[in-house]
Amino acid sequence: MSAHLIDGKAIAARLRERVAACVARLKAEQGIVPGLAVVLVGNDPASTVYVRNKGIQTIAAGMASFEHKLPAETTQAELLALIAQLNADPAVHGILVQLPLPLHIDADAVINAINPAKDVDGFHVTNVGLLATGQRSIVPCTPLGCLMLLREHFGNLVGRNAVVIGRSNIVGKPVVQLLLRESCTVTIAHSRTERLPTICRRADILIAAVGRAEMITGDFIKPGAVVIDVGINQIERGGQVRLVGDVERESAAEIADAMTPVPGGVGPMTIACLLANTVTACCRH
Ligand code: GUN
Repeated sequence: MSAHLIDGKAIAARLRERVAACVARLKAEQGIVPGLAVVLVGNDPASTVYVRNKGIQTIAAGMASFEHKLPAETTQAELLALIAQLNADPAVHGILVQLPLPLHIDADAVINAINPAKDVDGFHVTNVGLLATGQRSIVPCTPLGCLMLLREHFGNLVGRNAVVIGRSNIVGKPVVQLLLRESCTVTIAHSRTERLPTICRRADILIAAVGRAEMITGDFIKPGAVVIDVGINQIERGGQVRLVGDVERESAAEIADAMTPVPGGVGPMTIACLLANTVTACCRH
């Protein structure tokens, strides 16, 4: 058996089309152009690529893109001053500070300085608390993308056993909240969990967000499960640099019913959800 590959690229393209249609309507009917500000501190190569892609796709959806590229030695006070300026700017409806930040900056302090209504990452403690208590919030982009892929596959998720491997604030914890909201039975596992393969083999839905290249093999998967691979890891194989997920594709595909590829699975959904969150923030404003 070879698992069906869930086509995140195509599903993200459809979401971007819907976002672009909303943007066009906002412009035509209200003269409003949603604006997204992205802040990058330093020149981490992966972050630079992500930020460039976000800018390109923001403009392609008809929105305004404001990029702020700051040197690695930017002080926390300087960054907080920029956040205050973006909070006050009526042309900016969404603010994203690319993580990780340099170590001399307190990332929590910066994220919590963003106006929660403009926090399109959904990382502000107010949005985290609203999500955890089932209230309307801005939902983090990667978890939202995972949920959309699962809904596309299953329709209804009620009562499914889900195992999430990873406990980060960016993916693991918020995806757990979203799955609970869908009435899944959720287990949170992580790199230190004992008997991890046994726990994972209970999952109808397995979400791998552990950040270790190809750690999840077919032995971790229940026959017929759906596997969502959030990992993006660079490895060198045969003298070539390749992108792989947290899931070992060949052995997993033998056991799973469906899985997301890397690249072309969760990744495209993250940026599409960021655009959707920006339009949502603009409409709520
Ligand atoms: N770095 C890796 N993923 C993300 C994300 O979703 N948002 C931000 N701001 N930084 C990231």
